[in-house]
Amino acid sequence: MKKTNVTAIVGVQYGDEGKGRIVDYFAQDADIVIRYQGGDNAGHTVINDKGKFALHILPSGIFNPDTMNIVGAGTVVNFNTMHEELENIRKISKMPIENVFIDSRAHLIMPYHQDLDGAEEAKRDSSQKIGTTKRGIGPCYTDKASRSGLRAGDLLDEEFLEKRLSMLLPRKNRELEYYGLKTYELKDLLALCAKWKEEFGSFIIDTVPVVREAVESNKKVLLEGQLGIMRDNDWGIYPYTTSSNPTVAGAANGSAVPAWAIQKVIGVAKAYSTSVGGGPYMTELFDETATKLREIGGEYGATTGRPRRCGWFDAVAADYACYMNGVTDLALTKMDVLDTFEKILVCTGYQIDGQYYSYLPETNLQERAKPIYKEFDGWMEDTSKCEKWEDLPEKAKEYVLELEKMLNTKISYISVGPKREQLIVR
Ligand code: GDP
Ligand code: IMO
Ligand code: MG
Repeated sequence: MKKTNVTAIVGVQYGDEGKGRIVDYFAQDADIVIRYQGGDNAGHTVINDKGKFALHILPSGIFNPDTMNIVGAGTVVNFNTMHEELENIRKISKMPIENVFIDSRAHLIMPYHQDLDGAEEAKRDSSQKIGTTKRGIGPCYTDKASRSGLRAGDLLDEEFLEKRLSMLLPRKNRELEYYGLKTYELKDLLALCAKWKEEFGSFIIDTVPVVREAVESNKKVLLEGQLGIMRDNDWGIYPYTTSSNPTVAGAANGSAVPAWAIQKVIGVAKAYSTSVGGGPYMTELFDETATKLREIGGEYGATTGRPRRCGWFDAVAADYACYMNGVTDLALTKMDVLDTFEKILVCTGYQIDGQYYSYLPETNLQERAKPIYKEFDGWMEDTSKCEKWEDLPEKAKEYVLELEKMLNTKISYISVGPKREQLIVR
C-alpha cells in the first residue's frame, strides 16, 4: 500500500475530548485540515498565541495561514453562524482568515431546521430527551437522508435553487404548522440564500481535485472529527446520538479522502470523562467528585454553556472506540485536572442484571450497567508545567501505562493544560 500523510483526529468518548486543541497543534505544519461531519454543534476550544477561541464550524487549522481549511462534504453548514464565527475570530486574532473553503456537497442548515430541532426536542418525553444543541443538525441530516436537502453548491445556481426550494418548502411549512411554528415565505429564504452566496459563493468549491492532489502527493492532511464515538449515529448510544458519524468511517465518507489513505488515526480522550446531553453514561458520578472534576476541568459546554456530566475514565468503552476507529495513537488530555485527586478510578467492566460484561453492551443494557472499577493512587503533584514524559510524576506515568495496557494502544500524546504548548509528545 502506498504511504500517505493523512491523519484523522477523532473523539473516542462523548465529545469535548480536546479534539480542537490537538488539531490546532498538528495544523502548525499541515497543508489541509478538513472538518468531515457535523455542523456548528461543535465547540472546539483552541488556545494559542492568537488568543482563546471556541470553533463551531470552522476547522481548527485556521490559525495557520498556509493551511487550506475545508468544511467537508459530510458537514451541515449554517452560513449565518459561520459569518458570526468568522467575524469574531478575525476580531480576536487580528488575522484575515481567508483560508476556508466549503465543499459544494455540504448541506445547508436552513432557519426551519433550527426551528424544528427545538420543537422536536420539546415533544420528546422527559426520559427520551437527547438534549440537542438546537442548531438544526438532526432536521438538516434528516432532509439529506430523505433527499430533500439543499446543498452549498445550490446557492451558486439561482434558477435551480428557486425551483428546488419551491418544491421543498410547502412540505417544510406543513411540518412547521404541525408544531405550531411560523412558516416561511419563498422570497425571504431566497433573499437569505442570495446573501449567503454573496459572502461565501467564491469559497464554495468541489474539493475532490485539491484533496486528491494533496493525498496523492503525500501532503499533510488532517481530518477533524466532531463529537465522539459514543454519540455516533450508528455506533453510539442511539437514539441519544448526533445525526452523523464522528468515527473514522465518517471521515472517509465526508472528506474526499478514500478510506485506505487514512493511515494514522489519533483518538482523543480525556484522562477522565464527560458527557453533555441525555442518554446512558455508565461512569457518571453524582457526588462531590463530579463537582470537583467539573470545576477544576472547567466542564461547561463550549457551545451551549451547559454544565457537563462528569465521571471516571471508561476503559471498556475506550477499548471499543479504539477498535472501531482503528486508533493508531491516543492523545490523553486534561491529565492536570486529576492532579489533586487522591484516588482515581477506571472502569474495567460492567455488571448488568447480575451478569459480568467485559465489552461495551448496546444502549438499552447500558442504561442498567453498573461499572466495575480499578483504583489507582493519585500523584498529588502539579503536572501543568511538565514538558516531557520524564517530567511527569511516577504515579501519573503508571496511570498512563496502565491505560495503554488496557487499551492495547500507544498513548503518544499527553496534555497537561489547555494551551498549544502544554502537550507532551512521547
Ligand atoms: P473538543 O470539542 O473535543 O475540541 O473539546 P472542547 O474544546 O469542547 O473541550 C475541551 C476543554 O478542555 C476546553 O475548555 C479546553 O480548553 C480544555 N482543555 C483541553 N486540553 C486540556 C488540558 O490538557 N488541560 C486542561 N486543564 N484543559 C484542557
Ligand atoms: P464537540 O465537537 C459534546 C450532543 C448533544 C446531544 C447530542 C445530539 O465539541 O465534541 P445535536 O445538536 O448534535 O443534534 O445533539 O449530541 N453533542 C455534543 N456533545 N460535544 C459536542 O461537540 C456535541 N455536539 C452534540 O448534547 O446530546
Ligand atoms: Mg467541544
